[in-house]
Amino acid sequence: MQTNIERLAIWGGPPAFAEKLHVGRPNIGDRDRFLARVSDILDHRWLTNHGPYVREFEQRISDRLGVKHCIAMCNATIALEIVIRALEMTGEVIVPSFTFVATAHALQWQAITPVFCDVDPATHNIDPQRIEQLITPRTTGIIGVHVWGRPCAIEALSEIAQSHELELVFDAAHAFGCSYHGKAIGSFGRAEVLSFHATKFLNSFEGGAIVTNDDALAARIRLMKNFGFAGYDDVDYVGTNGKMSEVSAAMGLTSLESMDEFIATNRRNYAEYQRVLADLPGILLIAYDGNEHCNYQYIVLEVDQATAGLSRDLLMRILWAENVLARRYFHPGCHRMEPYRSFYPNAGLLLAETEKLTDRVLSLPNGTATTPDDIAKIGELVHIAVAHGAEIAERLSAMPPGQ
Ligand SMILES: Cc1ncc(COP(=O)(O)O)c(C=O)c1O
Repeated sequence: MQTNIERLAIWGGPPAFAEKLHVGRPNIGDRDRFLARVSDILDHRWLTNHGPYVREFEQRISDRLGVKHCIAMCNATIALEIVIRALEMTGEVIVPSFTFVATAHALQWQAITPVFCDVDPATHNIDPQRIEQLITPRTTGIIGVHVWGRPCAIEALSEIAQSHELELVFDAAHAFGCSYHGKAIGSFGRAEVLSFHATKFLNSFEGGAIVTNDDALAARIRLMKNFGFAGYDDVDYVGTNGKMSEVSAAMGLTSLESMDEFIATNRRNYAEYQRVLADLPGILLIAYDGNEHCNYQYIVLEVDQATAGLSRDLLMRILWAENVLARRYFHPGCHRMEPYRSFYPNAGLLLAETEKLTDRVLSLPNGTATTPDDIAKIGELVHIAVAHGAEIAERLSAMPPGQ
């Protein structure tokens, strides 16, 4: 293996990749099937408002997850807002800070305080042992996030929610196609929220869904996502516009037909990353439980600076110079973003594990646009970076600013 640091693009030379490699480059299913569906949509002039493609998409998702109701939405953020409102959550809701900011925003948008809970460093998910100390008379719910598709400690969370009479919802934006104790993610808690955003392994361009086994809740959500309309002129609730369009459903259906292939490619890529990143001191590739279903979408490294000899941020800088656009998901944590940073300046005191994690994690490209050759090259770059971290850092610090 070539380990010469002179070849690194960080000094101004040509990058290892001519084109930028994004972390969540979309998976595209069968183009002809998609275009045929779009053509049919145009022929019938039924573009939105719960058309036949949205209904079929909802049915396919419910069947696949074994859940009674799937309500397709324009995206997962609106879906979170709607489910929070439909469950009448108010006051304070406990969420992890180690999540995409949409989880917290969906609460704050409705003047509900997100109370940030620390994570279990082994799973990156909300730590049930830390929840009870955060419960106050104003607490109405818990939102767990299945980060990277690895399920939360669902049983422990359910017990806490039950004993304190709190609502429990899961942000399953990462977890479509994943399971907990062999059962598909989607039917836990009062409801779960899926995302089909372009960067998710299964996409409908933009899209999301609420899945639930609760009939009354599903009925309320259906009204709320359609302005509250119960009939042509009959409004029952304050509603919003959360509808998924027919073209999005056509993309979602086409993606569903290739779902197993997407997962197989992700899994192959994950195994390649495991191979090329094995035995690198201080670089840990997060593990997935081989006994569960998993979509293997997220290739997440934890960089332990003391052992690796370089920081996560330096590794990222080296990779970006090579056109590998690795991302620091979820840096710096919701509690360090506005408005939460100003509202709760001391939140970090209770979020020690979150703070450590947000300084360590780095996500690498995956999906059908990522090849084993790409992964071999990325692996080589990481090897060079780790072998020469201190030297690279020293040379960079001696360079004039702006170079
Ligand atoms: C954990 C999590 N929750 C919610 C969302 C919001 O999803 P959407 O982009 O569909 O609104 C995302 C999107 O990346 C996410 O990662």
